Amino acid sequence: MVGPNPVLSVRPAEVADAAAIAAVHVAAWRSTYRGLLPDDFLASLAEAGYEERWRRIIGEETSRVYVAADGPEVVGFASGGRERAGEDGYGGELYAIYVVQEAQSKGHGRRLVQAVVAGLRELGLADMIVWVLRDNAGARRFYERLGGTYVRTQPITIGAALLQEVSYGWRSLDAIGY
Ligand SMILES: CC(C)(COP(=O)(O)OP(=O)(O)OC[C@H]1O[C@@H](n2cnc3c(N)ncnc32)[C@H](O)[C@@H]1OP(=O)(O)O)[C@@H](O)C(=O)NCCC(=O)NCCS
Repeated sequence: MVGPNPVLSVRPAEVADAAAIAAVHVAAWRSTYRGLLPDDFLASLAEAGYEERWRRIIGEETSRVYVAADGPEVVGFASGGRERAGEDGYGGELYAIYVVQEAQSKGHGRRLVQAVVAGLRELGLADMIVWVLRDNAGARRFYERLGGTYVRTQPITIGAALLQEVSYGWRSLDAIGY
């Protein structure tokens, strides 16, 4: 159970959050994907490039982006919007969700999913799919904990690595088990 805590919060991202989101993005990729993605690829991730990318995404408003904060500090983010690849039966997608390692398991992930789901509803979407690396066991347990059901597996190339990713789906946003 996540109890009320005035210090931990989730709110819509603003363009001014882009640098903080980029820092979380790079730190969380390095800690999560060590051993899954090549070391040189993880070392090459540059916050400046991601800051520019997140600035654009937040400014465009086609996707919904939220940040999780611990006091004034951004410790996580998530984004979602229309499903991107034409997957049958899914109109909504959780594009990304990352919480820095030190702030995991405090309920930020659950609150970020709730925020994205509210954003998907605002876009008129009624369901959600998410893609996750097959070997990212922690995130898979998180989605399974929320009641996601396995959809399918497909190959994905990240940097020079050929990997497998799996998808989880919720046929109704009402079916997400927080
Ligand atoms: C996956 C992630 C977003 C979850 O966020 P979080 O803040 O750590 O999770 P929460 O504290 O909100 O946990 C919500 C529920 O999921 C469960 N859960 C979360 N991570 C889990 C894990 N690694 N293993 C098992 N259960 C997990 C929690 O136990 C909790 O259930 P409970 O209340 O019944 O105990 C976060 O751990 C993360 O950023 N991981 C690294 C990045 C990543 O893999 N992102 C997803 C890429 S597709």
